[in-house]
Amino acid sequence: MSGNQQGDYPNDRQGKVQWTSPSNIALVKYWGKHGRQLPSNPSISLTLSKAFTETCVKYKYHDKGSNPQWHFTFEGKTKPDFEAKVLAYLRNISDVFPLAKSLDLEIDSRNTFPHSSGIASSASSMSALAMCLVDIASQLHDTNTLDLQRASLLARLGSGSASRSIYGPIAIWGDNDTVSEGSNDYAIPYSSGMNPIFNTYHDDILIISKSEKAVSSRAGHALMENNPYALNRFEQAHRHLGEIISAMQKGDLEKFGDIVEREALTLHALMMASQPPYMLMEPNTLTAIKSTQQFRKETNLPVYFTLDAGPNIHLLYPDSVTDQVTELKIELKEYCTGGTILNDQVGSGPVKIS
Ligand code: PMV
Repeated sequence: MSGNQQGDYPNDRQGKVQWTSPSNIALVKYWGKHGRQLPSNPSISLTLSKAFTETCVKYKYHDKGSNPQWHFTFEGKTKPDFEAKVLAYLRNISDVFPLAKSLDLEIDSRNTFPHSSGIASSASSMSALAMCLVDIASQLHDTNTLDLQRASLLARLGSGSASRSIYGPIAIWGDNDTVSEGSNDYAIPYSSGMNPIFNTYHDDILIISKSEKAVSSRAGHALMENNPYALNRFEQAHRHLGEIISAMQKGDLEKFGDIVEREALTLHALMMASQPPYMLMEPNTLTAIKSTQQFRKETNLPVYFTLDAGPNIHLLYPDSVTDQVTELKIELKEYCTGGTILNDQVGSGPVKIS
């Protein structure tokens, strides 16, 4: 990791960094954590491309090492609740990123997807901010290399799933027996032997509801602590990771889809089995799931669904079947609020805006 002691840099250096970073969709889900945002099981995801956050940070270095001035705006406007979260995050990472204490920061962020669209923005926003922070460290060190491992670790401290958005098209986060480089501290890119068909994957997000979730992800992770099925679930996730990697290497889309759907339903089953129990799926979530499964049965096309911690559906399929899937999407549109479907595709991760 790069050094960041005070006094390393000429005083009063200032500059600007700007990054976009995408959302990602987990295939094997991270659900349950311990310690300092460490996952209870490994996860694997596809990195998206169109749903992203763009973050611009103006910085000024001073060697005081205390009382830094930090400001956050969203789309150029003050947003006190967002600002409070970002400032709390910057304070929280000051042991792993002590440079922050010597930086005055003006942060502005925007998303390509509408806020409150039911799309979680924490993965894209925290990874974009983490990329900006490691870029500032690199500029102040006059190096041209970005410490991506550090970016992933910093992103993780903001939101676990954000650790995976640093890499595309496929990222793995968490210690596991299948991929020895896997770590609980940061995500890693994973391409070893993967069938290139996954680089063409689409993720169409059906917005079933835009309402704020009744139970946040943070609360959901916490409820895993007393979930009677937790240990079995963590074992299952390890097993699923090995199986899905093997399916993705073989290009076995049926096995891939089987695990992806099992993971989505398990995630929601865990919510229903929590104490207190809760449910984030809506009636239209179930209707759309059934329509997707029926369509697959009739057409034999490899289109599968997954869910994140909410009611919205992610339709996953390779580019080669896009035209045929349009037919299904016309049918599914009626279950979406305002008929909204966000069409996304696998991408290669954060991009620097110069
Ligand atoms: O990163 P968090 O704390 O928002 O948790 C994300 C949890 C899931 O989206 C449900 C699964 C995952 O691995 O992304």
